[in-house]
Amino acid sequence: MSRTPSEQELDAMDSFKKIKFFRLFEPSLGILGFFFVTVFVICCFFYMDYRDVANGFQFSNQTEKFVWLNFDGSAGEDRKVEFLSEQSNGCDVFEGDWVWDENYPLYQSKDCRFLDDGFRCSENGRPDLFYTKWRWQPKHCNLPRFDAKMMLEKLRNKRLVFVGDSIGRNQWESLLCMLASAVPRKDSIYEVNGSPITKHKGFLVFKFMDYNCTVEYYRAPFLVLQSRPPANSSPKVRTTLKLDQMDWSSLKWRDADVLVFNTGHWWNYEKTIRGFRSSDMKIALTCENEPSWKRTSGVFGYGNLWNIETWKKDIFRIPTFIRGCYFQEGSEVKMEMKIDSAYRKSIETVIGWIRREVNISKTQVFYRTYAPVHFRGGNWRTGGSCHLETLPELGSSLVPSHTWARYGIFADVISAHINTSDIKKLDVLYVTNMTSRRKDGHSSLYYLGPNAGIASIHRQDCSHWCLPGVPDTWNELLYALFLKREASHTRNSSTSRAQA
Ligand SMILES: *[C@@H]1O[C@H](CO)[C@@H](O)[C@H](O)[C@H]1NC(C)=O
Ligand SMILES: *[C@@H]1O[C@H](CO)[C@@H](O)[C@H](O)[C@H]1NC(C)=O
Ligand SMILES: *[C@@H]1O[C@H](CO)[C@@H](O)[C@H](O)[C@H]1NC(C)=O
Ligand SMILES: *[C@@H]1O[C@H](CO)[C@@H](O)[C@H](O)[C@H]1NC(C)=O
Ligand SMILES: *[C@@H]1O[C@H](CO)[C@@H](O)[C@H](O)[C@H]1NC(C)=O
Ligand SMILES: *[C@@H]1O[C@H](CO)[C@@H](O)[C@H](O)[C@H]1NC(C)=O
Repeated sequence: MSRTPSEQELDAMDSFKKIKFFRLFEPSLGILGFFFVTVFVICCFFYMDYRDVANGFQFSNQTEKFVWLNFDGSAGEDRKVEFLSEQSNGCDVFEGDWVWDENYPLYQSKDCRFLDDGFRCSENGRPDLFYTKWRWQPKHCNLPRFDAKMMLEKLRNKRLVFVGDSIGRNQWESLLCMLASAVPRKDSIYEVNGSPITKHKGFLVFKFMDYNCTVEYYRAPFLVLQSRPPANSSPKVRTTLKLDQMDWSSLKWRDADVLVFNTGHWWNYEKTIRGFRSSDMKIALTCENEPSWKRTSGVFGYGNLWNIETWKKDIFRIPTFIRGCYFQEGSEVKMEMKIDSAYRKSIETVIGWIRREVNISKTQVFYRTYAPVHFRGGNWRTGGSCHLETLPELGSSLVPSHTWARYGIFADVISAHINTSDIKKLDVLYVTNMTSRRKDGHSSLYYLGPNAGIASIHRQDCSHWCLPGVPDTWNELLYALFLKREASHTRNSSTSRAQA
């Protein structure tokens, strides 16, 4: 039932296009429009062809290429400098706009078996496809078009690891689909432990056989360690977040070649909860609903099954575990600590850990900033909604103030460290601002799976993102910064060779 409208709509769009095509030969504004579109498309083709030819990324050649482009005044809006060229240094790729682009999306969810049902919005009955058609256009330069083959080639024999909460997982699945689109033999991509995507013990490792590389996800919603409280603590304390220690899984990914962190979402419910819980509540209500060691006997801290039940729990049942989770520093449980200070401390811990434990000449570290939620007329629990949003906010965005609070804390910590040489090597994906404009991109009612119909209007998911969709853009930025670093390495080593 829920799927019929989308099919009808697609049919309608199809016939609409046909009618439009025949009408074009009438003398009308259509001709003019068609003419401009055609010229634009042809220009694009020339430009893309050229890019394909020059795609070897010989950076000694890059400069010539961009000089050539700059000479070609007819390239119009393409006159912006390419982000990967040397001249673009200083271009802030996070300042820009969402622009409509018919070349998107980069893949179809039905072609990608790595997606949770919860992200397959169109397959789950979402009637519009607009949310898949927006490309991020930086103001002062152009991003490289995502080239899955190139990325896989650069990842050969390497490990790329996402660590964070379920929004990080959202991004990880997006990247799997983006990369898999370039692999013809789908069974050459597999989970190394044979786990299906919907079920795992805290982590999943997908291998791209032809490239001997893995793209991995570790669930660590706080990045810091959650575990048993100290022996002598009050019986109220059932579990603690150890703000000065990294998550248990850090041993597994410390040596990865690319690390992509995110956190924030789980530090976020305080204000909403405070609204309906008594204000003397001092506990951090963002911990797991049960102490994880009670659920697993294995070596892994999280025995979390990821399925639609967990999904709903993750989003909707948070109050059931408002009991007994406190913050801890050293051996001391901080009964009074506020969420904001705890969040700040956790980011300090992550940065300290990067400095101490990560070999920066091997590992490229990314940190993706907080991705805003878009509940309107309530919050995640009180019937807040986003299901009527079909377009981005093209001007300023209306996101809850805690978005900027979350972001501000991170920015504060980073700017305090920005002059230390190691942290200069941290690549921050500043997605908060751009993402705040994408109220149209959430799973809303369409997260229950293709056979389960749509969700109750009072139970919307305005936190996670439909795929294909907004997280694809975060990954395009990841791709751009990844290649940029490579480029500057290549330049440096060729410079030093030249000097030698
Ligand atoms: C430019 O790249 C091509 C291969 O794409 C290479 O043969 C040529 O030598 C390069 N030119 C310069 C000046 O490095
Ligand atoms: C595959 O990659 C790993 C590093 O992730 C490396 O240790 C191993 O030697 C590689 N295997 C082959 C056959 O290249
Ligand atoms: C860091 O990584 C580089 C490149 O892989 C390697 O040459 C170097 O020995 C590593 N340093 C340490 C301390 O492990
Ligand atoms: C970092 O260094 C720059 C100059 O190198 C200086 O202007 C700035 O104030 C420093 N920032 C901090 C936070 O120390
Ligand atoms: C977000 O981006 C817009 C447009 O670039 C800018 O005007 C605004 O100041 C930014 N907001 C924040 C909080 O950085
Ligand atoms: C490349 O060299 C420049 C200066 O010559 C330096 O500032 C930059 O950090 C180097 N980049 C890398 C990735 O080593």
